[in-house]
Amino acid sequence: MEFLDLPPMLGAGGTLRLPGSKSISNRTLLLAALARGETCIRDLLASDDVDRMLDALAKLGVEWSRDGDDGEYLVRGVGGVVPVKSADLFLGNAGTAIRPLTAALALSGGQYRLSGVARMHERPIGDLVDGLRQLGAEIHYEGNDGFPPLQVLPGQIRAGGVVKVRGDVSSQFLTALLMALPLTGTETTIEVVGELISKPYIAITLELMARFGVEVSRVGWERFIVPAGAGYTSPGTIFVEGDASSASYFLAAGAIGGGPVRVEGVGQASIQGDVRFAAALQQLGARVEMGDNWIEARAPAQGRLKAFDLDLNHIPDAAMTLAVAALFADGPCRLRNIASWRVKETDRLAAMATELRKVGASVEEGPDYLRIVPPVRLQPAAIDTYDDHRMAMCFSLVTLGACRVRINDPRCVNKTFPTYFDCFTSIARAIPVIAIDGPSASGKGTVAARVAEALGFAYLDSGSLYRLVALAAMRSGVPLDDEVRVARIAARLAVCFEAGRIVLEKDDVTELIREEICSVGASKVAALPAVRAALLDRQRDFRTAPGLVAEGRDMGSVVFPDAAHKFYLTASVEVRAERRYKQLIDKGMPANIESLSKDLEERDARDAARSVAPLRKLPDAVLLDTTGMTVEEAVAFVLERVRD
Ligand code: DC
Repeated sequence: MEFLDLPPMLGAGGTLRLPGSKSISNRTLLLAALARGETCIRDLLASDDVDRMLDALAKLGVEWSRDGDDGEYLVRGVGGVVPVKSADLFLGNAGTAIRPLTAALALSGGQYRLSGVARMHERPIGDLVDGLRQLGAEIHYEGNDGFPPLQVLPGQIRAGGVVKVRGDVSSQFLTALLMALPLTGTETTIEVVGELISKPYIAITLELMARFGVEVSRVGWERFIVPAGAGYTSPGTIFVEGDASSASYFLAAGAIGGGPVRVEGVGQASIQGDVRFAAALQQLGARVEMGDNWIEARAPAQGRLKAFDLDLNHIPDAAMTLAVAALFADGPCRLRNIASWRVKETDRLAAMATELRKVGASVEEGPDYLRIVPPVRLQPAAIDTYDDHRMAMCFSLVTLGACRVRINDPRCVNKTFPTYFDCFTSIARAIPVIAIDGPSASGKGTVAARVAEALGFAYLDSGSLYRLVALAAMRSGVPLDDEVRVARIAARLAVCFEAGRIVLEKDDVTELIREEICSVGASKVAALPAVRAALLDRQRDFRTAPGLVAEGRDMGSVVFPDAAHKFYLTASVEVRAERRYKQLIDKGMPANIESLSKDLEERDARDAARSVAPLRKLPDAVLLDTTGMTVEEAVAFVLERVRD
């Protein structure tokens, strides 16, 4: 799938169980692998990054098995001695795998190669390598200095003393050293050089090491003392918390889209720093409640989210969600101290600025901050995701501004949350569409307009767009089979629908487009794929709150495949010809029933035979044959089903 079209949403509400935390999953796997004894890991995240770690452990000779489908794994720990002494490990784009594995393998006396995808080879690892070299590790850069791929060779490890590591580029370097040092059995002190960023992630590392029996003492966030001892011991069974970063999208959805949205799997007892995203949301005016194992968010009691100016160094991942929430704030917002965004899955500062501008925001991109001015009106856009799961997940929230969004390469969410879009659409309520398709003169126009009126919904007569294109083409002398030129006309059509009137370039053509010449012309231009493509977005723009009734030939199949209700209206050719005859005579237009019948049959045949969006009843559409029915009966039939 190259892209995913998300419909405009009315709001969000509901409850959701979170997938396991990526940070906890990969740390726990490595600790369980290095520990003495077997560890049962429950609720492990199923995702690409975790698969990379599992694959690597298997290659290193660590035995693990999966029990059933609900994230239960059994890992047989190797007691600090990596069984396979030579291996080539591919770690994709998983920073939580390559950094700690580099450290652990550098201290374990084997010969290894660690590589990843192209982007991984642009993500720095030099500060970690420098730290490990102080311990006597032998590590070589295969390509650029400071970046993977790496060759790890058996070194003369001299643990003990003091190791210095920089903490201001990625906290994962410190995490990697902390987790690996107990393998040496010697007390070692780590000194952090530079201001440590993302401190809550270090807290996760220390907490998990403690659960595996290694208590690190620390002085502020500058010195960490890893004790001498026998290394890690399995705690038996360990539960992986829900992912607090993943929770941010749903909590933001509740804050933007009304709510309440409740996430289960993280709460105030969580060891993940990203639960503090909830506090940030509160500063935006959202109403947030928290239990030990759940968090719930809803919109401010009144008005929009409040503009904010926040230092987000402690929650760099969840901060991305705030960048998109800024679109919904009541004024300009500033996200500060987020320079680490530049070395993540992509340069997130640049990527976020570019994509926010596409939906209408004006954005200032600083070296370590973003200033975001929300637009008056969000614009539909195709969002590029840069192989970054969080870009894809964040931008789904734009739909809560009743704005449709296309997410390019949506499968990048597999990195941490393969089922993300299903979860999102389970809590977000799309603006409902009632699609009514069928052949000419089946009564769908009248029925659709009345249903729309009864429900207070917008109404789209898609046939009128094809009629307008035919008329505009004929007026400019463009042959109706000249696909390129007719499509250009369709793309630029200057039409205005207002109070039941249709105005084409200042000319009221409401009646004119109903004439047979436009009917026949419409059927011809409607068979051209480029014309249909050119009208797609224009039709989707009719989807506005509180809902839309759309009628035509491909409303349920192509334009609104996610329509809440689909109907297929039809009637016998004789009855349809009679209805058309009566309409024309009533309007004082000349008509002949035989030629109308013939025209209808020809048009049906053309609409059904064309290669793109042929007219047909969909399996999920309700069939309504109006041959023996009055308009009132048909309207009542549709309303009854919709209201059900
Ligand atoms: O519904 P109508 O008679 O106004 O449609 C005019 C022509 O446009 C008809 O020949 C079929 C075509 N059409 C289409 O191909 N797809 C639509 N969604 C609507 C109309």
